[in-house]
Amino acid sequence: MENRTATNEQFVTVSGLTKRFGDLVAVDNLDFSVAEGEIFGFLGPNGAGKSTTLNIIATLLSLDKGEVSVAGYDLNKDARAIKAIIGLVPQEIALLPNLTAQENVAFFAGLYGLKGSRLKEAVQKALVFVGLAEQAKKRASKMSGGMQRRLNIACGIAHDPKLIILDEPTVGVDAQSREHIMEGIRILRDRGATIIYTSHYMPEVQEICDRIAIIDHGRLVGLGTEQELLRVVTDVKSIVVRFEDKPGFDSDGLIRRLCVLPDVQRAVFNEGATELRIDVTLGFADITPLVKEFMALDLRIQSLNSEAPDLETTFLALTGRELRQG
Ligand SMILES: Nc1ncnc2c1ncn2[C@@H]1O[C@H](COP(=O)(O)OP(=O)(O)OP(=O)(O)O)[C@@H](O)[C@H]1O
Ligand SMILES: [Mg+2]
Repeated sequence: MENRTATNEQFVTVSGLTKRFGDLVAVDNLDFSVAEGEIFGFLGPNGAGKSTTLNIIATLLSLDKGEVSVAGYDLNKDARAIKAIIGLVPQEIALLPNLTAQENVAFFAGLYGLKGSRLKEAVQKALVFVGLAEQAKKRASKMSGGMQRRLNIACGIAHDPKLIILDEPTVGVDAQSREHIMEGIRILRDRGATIIYTSHYMPEVQEICDRIAIIDHGRLVGLGTEQELLRVVTDVKSIVVRFEDKPGFDSDGLIRRLCVLPDVQRAVFNEGATELRIDVTLGFADITPLVKEFMALDLRIQSLNSEAPDLETTFLALTGRELRQG
């Protein structure tokens, strides 16, 4: 405890963090901090440096330059103290395939020194938490991808860590399990944990994160609450069009044609292709070219509204890339 210096108000502080892989600067002079009890979102396109940053904080990867402190411990001096209070749910599922669900959780929680009845209780609690209590005796290798994801989470949180880092925890899980996981993360926070959460799924980040850091090419390009980030984009508006049902039309072709029109920055359909969001520059005034494209596909407009940009638009404006693209 003597080595602790900072107050715990900022639970995680990262300053000047830099990591190179050969010539590639994967994390480039990154600064941010996470308050105690916060759910902090980490957003960025593929290869932005999210996992690298999180793995450094979780003491799995060395840093080249910069400082990281967690709960007042300095990573460069007290990595072991930090490791003991962190739970990492890695992006790549890391399970022992021949062990059962409960043996897997026991193995990982055991690494943190839990033994005997405390270990047993922790394992049971974690399995209930991810909705796998009924599958406790099932081998990891026999589980579906979504169940393995949930088990991966149980393994990362069973030792009751103060800082929980979730790196894309909901990839491949169904909507119901995703809701379960979202609710679980809120419960963990309410019990006192601080959370860093990474996802490519924007609605998730919007739903649960108190603040969001947007990174691209290893650099911080935006940081704030959802509302603060939305205010960054002032030169774009969105046109939201709803169509009457028309199964099987070429929605990808439509998107491609819309994107080459003047003043159109982005066009994207919602799931089910019933609602189309088109981001246009503020100078955009004439919707005729858009309507022509709709008519060419025999699409009937149900409604057409102008809206403020969403977080996806902000993301695009800040990074020049769509979140889901590589
Ligand atoms: N061990 C490694 N050796 C060499 N290059 C690496 C290594 N790990 C990551 N990189 C590179 O560093 C950059 C950042 O990778 P990182 O995995 O941190 O990105 P990410 O934001 O987590 O991406 P994703 O959304 O795909 O998970 C990428 O260009 C990646 O190819
Ligand atoms: Mg990653």
